[in-house]
Amino acid sequence: MKHLLGIEDLDDALVDELIEAAKRYKADPTASRELEGKMVALLFFEPSTRTQLSFSAAAQRLGAGVIGFSDPAVTSVSKGETLQDTIRVVQTFCDCIVIRHPRSHSATEAADVATVPIINGGDGANQHPTQTLFDLMTIQEHHDRLSQLRVGFMGDLRWGRTAHSLSRALAHRNNELVWIARDELQMPAEIVESIEAKGGRFQMVEQVSSVIDSLDVLYVTRPQRERWADAFTTQPPVDALSLELLQQANDNMIVLHPLPRTNELPEECDKDHRAKYFDQVANGVPMRMAILAHVLRG
Ligand code: NCD
Repeated sequence: MKHLLGIEDLDDALVDELIEAAKRYKADPTASRELEGKMVALLFFEPSTRTQLSFSAAAQRLGAGVIGFSDPAVTSVSKGETLQDTIRVVQTFCDCIVIRHPRSHSATEAADVATVPIINGGDGANQHPTQTLFDLMTIQEHHDRLSQLRVGFMGDLRWGRTAHSLSRALAHRNNELVWIARDELQMPAEIVESIEAKGGRFQMVEQVSSVIDSLDVLYVTRPQRERWADAFTTQPPVDALSLELLQQANDNMIVLHPLPRTNELPEECDKDHRAKYFDQVANGVPMRMAILAHVLRG
């Protein structure tokens, strides 16, 4: 059975294949009803707009039915049901489960008891592999390659799961990663070590102004305040991108952001031709079509 729990579940050839399939779905979103008769369950234990709606749209574009919830308070979870039992029950109603959950590695816990494929739609501060796939698609569309790029990540790299998955995905493809964050929000040691062990190249800096002129991609992330809990006595200030900073960047650099954005990416940046985050989010449905088709093909 094919689960998609972390980005390392996919080898490069499969990532490239999914990107090509997503491009075909993007060119003609109504061409295929290949998932007719299938049922996809969306179990969202944590807030979501785009991941949930785009999975729902992707499933329905391909002819599948969709069930699920976006508020666990209205389900048996509020009566104390475990995640494992919820999976054991829901899998009898469907062919595939997409799960988003506030706890890291919860998708893996779900997969341990699942008899249907589990797709990780974001598990705590751990990973968000389906986001990464269309992040890669957007980079590939613009730069026409997924290697030999210098990719900066800015913002909350400690708790930002999208930055974790994308860093892992790019590190071994002969790219250079630049993690731009204050110490308190830098990339977790576990991820740094795992990338280092595989020979990935990276650099850590505090200020975007010191590196922005050398980047091919700048991936901005939101401070994940909902995960900060008791980690700080004084919350760190949020560093923001600006039109002024963008003036120092290469003409061909692109700015990505998984969205939702807050103050780290002011609306003034939208008018810069390098702002590609709305193109990026538009790749969510075709990529999720490709993922569902791949997983449900068996
Ligand atoms: C991201 C997430 O949930 O991790 N959102 C998304 O799915 N595009 C990013 C975020 O919430 O900051």
